[in-house]
Amino acid sequence: MTMQRTLILNALALAATLGTSASCVAADAGLSITSSNAPHAQMLDAAGEGRRLFLKLNCYGCHGMYAGGGMGPNIVNAERNDVNEVLMRGSFRGMRSYRDFVTDTDITNIAAYLQSIGTPNEPTFKDWWKKNPPK
Ligand code: HEC
Repeated sequence: MTMQRTLILNALALAATLGTSASCVAADAGLSITSSNAPHAQMLDAAGEGRRLFLKLNCYGCHGMYAGGGMGPNIVNAERNDVNEVLMRGSFRGMRSYRDFVTDTDITNIAAYLQSIGTPNEPTFKDWWKKNPPK
């Protein structure tokens, strides 16, 4: 190999190394999410976070904007156990599983929301993406 070619290869290797470390820095910067700006940080009470998920996960598309029913059944007041069961397993009657998208806390919150409907504590906001949507 000529000297000149070796130099070019070294330069390419160096560029590759720098490129890698630059993207590592960017990745580190992306990890600096704190509880105050994390999209999933709890800002509302359980019913409010449940309402947020009900909208965000498009449950309303089948169950209606306030869970009163549509293509899917009315699920106002559904028990946590039933919410857990259908979210984990789905139903062959037309609802997929949400197993990969919800945590235990999410399920508790969704049940809290469904049980709050019709009470003074019912959240009715639609702008779920806001950090602290008005009730
Ligand atoms: C594609 C339409 C669709 C979407 C989206 C959907 N569901 Fe359903 N859901 C259904 C249908 C249909 C049933 C009735 C299933 C049955 O009778 O077996 C159902 C049943 C339920 C039940 C009743 C379970 C029971 O045993 O009583 C609950 C609670 C429920 N869904 C919650 C949710 C939640 C929470 C979401 C969002 C994460 C959601 N659903 C998204 C269609 C949907």
